[in-house]
Amino acid sequence: MAALFPPSANAVFRAVVIAIVVAVTVVICAPMIYIRTPYASDAEDPVPQPIEFDHRHHFRDDGIDCVYCHETVETQASAGLPSTAKCMGCHSQIWLTSPEVEPLRASWTAQTPIAWRRVNAVPAFVYFHHGVHIQAGVQCVECHGHVENMPRVYRANNLTMNFCMDCHRKRQGSRAITRLTTCTTCHR
Ligand code: HEC
Ligand code: HEC
Ligand code: HEC
Ligand code: HEC
Ligand code: HEC
Repeated sequence: MAALFPPSANAVFRAVVIAIVVAVTVVICAPMIYIRTPYASDAEDPVPQPIEFDHRHHFRDDGIDCVYCHETVETQASAGLPSTAKCMGCHSQIWLTSPEVEPLRASWTAQTPIAWRRVNAVPAFVYFHHGVHIQAGVQCVECHGHVENMPRVYRANNLTMNFCMDCHRKRQGSRAITRLTTCTTCHR
């Protein structure tokens, strides 16, 4: 009687087992890897804004300091966005006829604020404070990337818990370890 399993059966069986293990690993790991890439979260996608405001021109070319427009960044939790009046401080004099600046003039005439769209945000259950970081010498670029080179602002880093913790762990050498890493530092 012919053997039920030919001599190659063991090899075939092994190959099938390996294929299944690989398939299961890929199915489980691929989404875990994907979710950590910028693609999954729209990070690095420029956010369209009501006015084509360009940081490159205003900061790099015109030398306006970040804090001139983001007034409360050094002292308060939120960095703050400039009012229409602040923009008009210059644009009532310059680029008066430019169509790009038209929505700004419309906002000024109608006395309605510009509806800038948020780029960076943490969930409401996370406590974040800009002032503490700026005063500790942390630079904008460490969290926001090179905004001064962005024609349209995009999220340079996913503001995940790991992102925050990576830096806090590195810096804790010179700081009280408990203050920076306990859960209640960021979740109150
Ligand atoms: C300190 C003066 C100053 C302030 C404040 C200012 N701008 Fe400008 N803006 C300029 C100058 C100068 C230009 C000419 C652009 C260049 O340098 O190429 C310009 C150009 C622009 C343009 C044309 C497109 C571009 O970027 O070249 C837009 C739109 C604009 N500004 C919007 C704004 C908005 C919105 C605000 C407020 C958030 C603002 N500006 C605040 C000086 C200013
Ligand atoms: C002339 C005013 C002006 C200056 C100077 C300026 N900004 Fe802004 N910034 C704005 C405006 C208006 C917005 C909202 C529109 C946008 O996102 O482009 C903004 C948006 C941002 C955002 C995204 C906000 C969000 O929703 O998450 C970041 C981050 C930022 N700025 C950082 C900087 C940094 C860093 C500098 C200095 C290198 C700087 N800005 C200089 C006016 C300014
Ligand atoms: C330690 C990381 C970190 C640093 C450093 C930092 N930011 Fe932010 N920024 C954030 C986070 C996180 C948010 C979202 C905050 C939220 O959702 O409440 C944010 C939001 C913003 C916003 C939009 C919302 C708001 O707070 O008004 C602006 C504008 C901004 N940052 C500008 C700046 C500027 C300018 C600097 C440098 C002077 C800076 N940031 C430095 C992490 C940082
Ligand atoms: C690049 C480094 C860096 C990153 C990224 C960073 N932090 Fe911090 N953070 C610091 C430093 C440094 C301090 C300490 C300030 C001190 O002790 O004076 C601090 C302090 C804090 C504090 C304490 C504030 C207080 O009132 O005592 C909170 C809350 C905080 N960070 C939240 C966050 C959150 C949330 C994120 C992520 C969105 C974040 N941090 C990302 C460097 C960082
Ligand atoms: C340095 C700030 C910081 C500290 C310290 C911190 N977290 Fe978070 N945590 C965050 C941020 C930021 C998010 C939001 C992440 C996001 O939106 O992707 C978050 C999200 C969470 C979530 C929601 C689930 C998730 O992953 O989005 C849980 C649960 C959580 N943290 C628990 C903890 C616990 C437990 C500790 C103490 C071991 C802790 N956190 C310490 C910043 C912090």
